[in-house]
Amino acid sequence: MSAKYWEDRYQSGDMPWEKGAPSPGLVDFLAAHPKLARGTVCVPGCGTGHDVRAWAGAGFDVFGFDLAPSAIRLATEQTRAAGLTANFQIADFLAEPPPLLFDWIFEHTLFCAIQPVQRDDYVRAVLRWLKPGGQYLAVNYLIPDQDGPPFGTTRDELWQRFSPHFDLLEERVPRSYPNRTGLELMLWWRRKVALGEKQ
Ligand SMILES: C[S@@+](CC[C@H](N)C(=O)[O-])C[C@H]1O[C@@H](n2cnc3c(N)ncnc32)[C@H](O)[C@@H]1O
Repeated sequence: MSAKYWEDRYQSGDMPWEKGAPSPGLVDFLAAHPKLARGTVCVPGCGTGHDVRAWAGAGFDVFGFDLAPSAIRLATEQTRAAGLTANFQIADFLAEPPPLLFDWIFEHTLFCAIQPVQRDDYVRAVLRWLKPGGQYLAVNYLIPDQDGPPFGTTRDELWQRFSPHFDLLEERVPRSYPNRTGLELMLWWRRKVALGEKQ
């Protein structure tokens, strides 16, 4: 999907993903792990920034990226209004180099928003934007839909794509927004460190 496709959806208000709150699974994750080392977090496809603000409120140095200028404008305004600090930038996560290497990447409804043929590019982007040994926390959407966005996935597909590059730290069915209950899977991965790579 092009930047224009997403920008048009923001401008016409056609944003069924916009729930006015962060991912409940992320909220619970941060509450359950209060002692995580604070570091940099990348939220690709951040939309209006609810998840970015959840990480920022927990003390992380957060960067939200999105293709759509309106998403970045709304995210910036809402973050300022909330009295929180975060960085927002228009960027194509799949195509662009990262401005820095991150300690964390948080996935929430970007993997299901891109065309399934772009999923190889997505995995390459996660590897490009994340430090060796960095952590990839994903709330994946396990729906059958093939006529998205959103496009569905399965646990098997996620395992095949990510397990060659990541060790799985935790797997759970998270608390979800009411219309997604039982349809999400939260996977917490740590990027493997290749021979010769420094952590
Ligand atoms: C379904 S929305 C989800 C937004 C947000 N994660 C949320 O859950 O509220 C998908 C978002 O990803 C953005 N997006 C799509 N492709 C992208 C890409 N290649 N790089 C960065 N952002 C992208 C869209 O503009 C849109 O804001």
